[in-house]
Amino acid sequence: MNFEKYLENKKNIIDKALDEYLPPEEKPPSIIHKAMRYSVFGGGKRIRPILALVTAELFGKDIENVIKAACGVELIHTFSLIHDDLPCIDNDDFRRGRPSSHKVFGEAIALLVGDALLVYGFDLMIKNSEVKGIKKQSILKLLKETSFYIGTENMLGGQVEDISLKNDNIKKEDLNNLYIKKTAALICLSIRAGAILSGANQRQLKALTKYGENIGLAFQIIDDMLDIMQDQRDTGKPTYANKFGMKECKSESERLIEEAKGSLKIFDQKAKTLKNLADYLLTRKK
Ligand code: IPE
Ligand code: IPE
Ligand code: MG
Repeated sequence: MNFEKYLENKKNIIDKALDEYLPPEEKPPSIIHKAMRYSVFGGGKRIRPILALVTAELFGKDIENVIKAACGVELIHTFSLIHDDLPCIDNDDFRRGRPSSHKVFGEAIALLVGDALLVYGFDLMIKNSEVKGIKKQSILKLLKETSFYIGTENMLGGQVEDISLKNDNIKKEDLNNLYIKKTAALICLSIRAGAILSGANQRQLKALTKYGENIGLAFQIIDDMLDIMQDQRDTGKPTYANKFGMKECKSESERLIEEAKGSLKIFDQKAKTLKNLADYLLTRKK
């Protein structure tokens, strides 16, 4: 199976599971359930849940062990995008080529959909405890990590810094730190979720976290490049691409991907798929 096919296969598994876990559209109050499904099935790449599944595979675990938590992270990611697009944050009318949630359902519903997806994300992680062989302690650790990685020290803190960013005098180091929080944190969480539910030890978790931080940072820098290359989208906010140029983005993302792969040495050949996934991020077109 080539790598694109492998990813497609994983994406289909995740889409099917999400469809099963989310409330049906008709369930009252149907407006919010309809809006949840509109954004969750809006063409996302599912990179985060795929990372959780691939990490579990690295430890020889079945998909069933992690699929609920993996989908939980995807719901939290979707919540972050809906709120990110709101007029009071990035004011984006479009998400993945379709009108954003607030353009279709109005701001009040978009706000509540984000809240609902966050709660459902945690709920799915708790439900992962029903899987045979999963220790309650692993679920507690996972919940603690989830609060940490999306909290004000990480994703939400990064979003606060993002909206407070001033255009002049930005240092590369500051932008790196911001990207690690706003984007790499959720990517780290996805990988750590897969690892924690597979019984990883501290040394393994440390190596995987390093990998997550590096691909996460590269992911955001690549996202900045794609905004310019594909959408000619310049929101006016300072990004790696418009501050330091495309050449710098390319070399920095390539360097980060090499570093990410290097941190997986302890896993030898077993980490082949995670390494392929890191390389794939450099070539992604959306
Ligand atoms: C978009 O993330 C937001 C960033 C953090 C760059 P993705 O590019 O993973 O979004 P989807 O879910 O695939 O659309
Ligand atoms: C979104 O970052 C990050 C989060 C929602 C946490 P961006 O604002 O850079 O991503 P896009 O361009 O809206 O996808
Ligand atoms: Mg945005």
